[in-house]
Amino acid sequence: MEQQRYYIYTYGCQMNERDSEIMAGLLEEMGYVAASRPEEADVVIFNTCAIRERAEESVFGEIGRLKAVKEERPHMTIGLAGCMAQEPVTIERIRRHAPHVNFVFGTHNIHELPDILARVRDTDQLVVDVWKSGGDPELLEHLPSRRASGVKAWVNIIYGCDKYCTYCIVPYTRGRERSRRPEAILREVRQLAYQGYKEVTLLGQNVNAYGHDLPEKTDLADLLAAIQKVEGIRWIRYLTSHPWQFTDKLIDTVAENDKVCEHFHLPVQSGNNRILRKMNRHYTREYYLELVEKIRRRVPGASITTDIIVGFPGETEEEFQDTLRLVEEVQFDNAFTFIYSPRPGTPAALWLKKDPTPLEEKKERLQRLNELQYSIQRRNNQRLVGDEVEVLVEGPSKKDAQVYSARTRTHRLVLLPARPGMEGRFARVRITEAQTFYFKGEWLDQPAAAGRPALSLAHEG
Ligand code: SAH
Ligand code: SF4
Ligand code: F3S
Repeated sequence: MEQQRYYIYTYGCQMNERDSEIMAGLLEEMGYVAASRPEEADVVIFNTCAIRERAEESVFGEIGRLKAVKEERPHMTIGLAGCMAQEPVTIERIRRHAPHVNFVFGTHNIHELPDILARVRDTDQLVVDVWKSGGDPELLEHLPSRRASGVKAWVNIIYGCDKYCTYCIVPYTRGRERSRRPEAILREVRQLAYQGYKEVTLLGQNVNAYGHDLPEKTDLADLLAAIQKVEGIRWIRYLTSHPWQFTDKLIDTVAENDKVCEHFHLPVQSGNNRILRKMNRHYTREYYLELVEKIRRRVPGASITTDIIVGFPGETEEEFQDTLRLVEEVQFDNAFTFIYSPRPGTPAALWLKKDPTPLEEKKERLQRLNELQYSIQRRNNQRLVGDEVEVLVEGPSKKDAQVYSARTRTHRLVLLPARPGMEGRFARVRITEAQTFYFKGEWLDQPAAAGRPALSLAHEG
């Protein structure tokens, strides 16, 4: 029998990327192998994101495109998973407009994928298996996974989100906060170290909420300090942290544990206190600025990145300018900026009806914000030219195999001349050029014979 192939589309955040790795692991355990293109696959899964309308539209666009492919290959099975699956409107829409989709399963029961596929085989009806809320994190332990990288690994530490920011769909699609047991996390990290992984990124929508729901008294700081002791792991990252409850203990832990990278992703969302309150973010502009100050004092060389929403319902021009002023004041190393997108079922979506600001003006706000942020990045990045830094080499860049991409501890992207053999290794490089979104660098102590890996430079373990 010919080998069955699978293809997974992954949209959205790192938690979805991690879930896709688990889905791939489950499928490979069932005997499937990865297909390089969806057209060649027997099972296609869309692991979707619901954070903004545009993400949802691109999923339906691609599902539509596969309709013709499936007509040619009728045995092809198509499934939808991830955050959109948790929204009842998606299932309605599939029934009406995408009858070639065979199954839908949600964020809480990815471990049931093999059973769901078995059910799909026995029926020509749409199979829907979506749990309303998340089960015990224990259900997700010991699942197989096919990790995308052999060097950097994602590790879930907390599922769900209880913060209920008024614009955000995540609490509805990912359920209540549920922390994994520290011993389960440490077991996974030790296994990763044993397999040769050098970097771990601890994942959660709110990693600094970690532990509050566990019987033992523990938190993210304790977890970071424990992982610091795992031999073999060199760099530790964590995503995403909420500025609220970003404790002094956590800052100290980052400062004191050399494996924990000095990169702080702290989504601010807005620089205006009225808007922050309407967003239910639990902090003020002043608190945020003070937090940034504290971090910079305690962790020299820290990079600070953020997420910002413009055009939140009711945001005035004056209030938007508070965001611009905050951006100027903080001097972020990078910012992910978005126009507010109404999410059905969230409180802010109702307020949009009374919002006098037209979309055109919001687009223009976004552009002004981006221009400011880009000019800040260009100027500050320039200051790093000439610096010698340690990077973890990822390998050939997406655009050009002659160029290797690498990341600094501060998560800056450095492009280097290709050097086979350096993939997955640490190296010292010098920054030679700064652009808005990346740097160019040269290998240090580069031997004259190009193309040979400088093994002596690669620190391992
Ligand atoms: N848990 C993270 C955010 C995850 S979503 C945190 O609280 O920081 C990633 C980013 O998407 C958010 O920080 C926010 O800037 C943006 N976002 C979320 N909902 C949005 C919406 N309805 N419209 C536009 N952007 C949104
Ligand atoms: Fe969404 Fe807020 Fe939770 Fe982040 S903290 S996932 S923005 S509700
Ligand atoms: Fe998107 Fe769900 Fe992540 S909505 S951002 S995939 S948690």
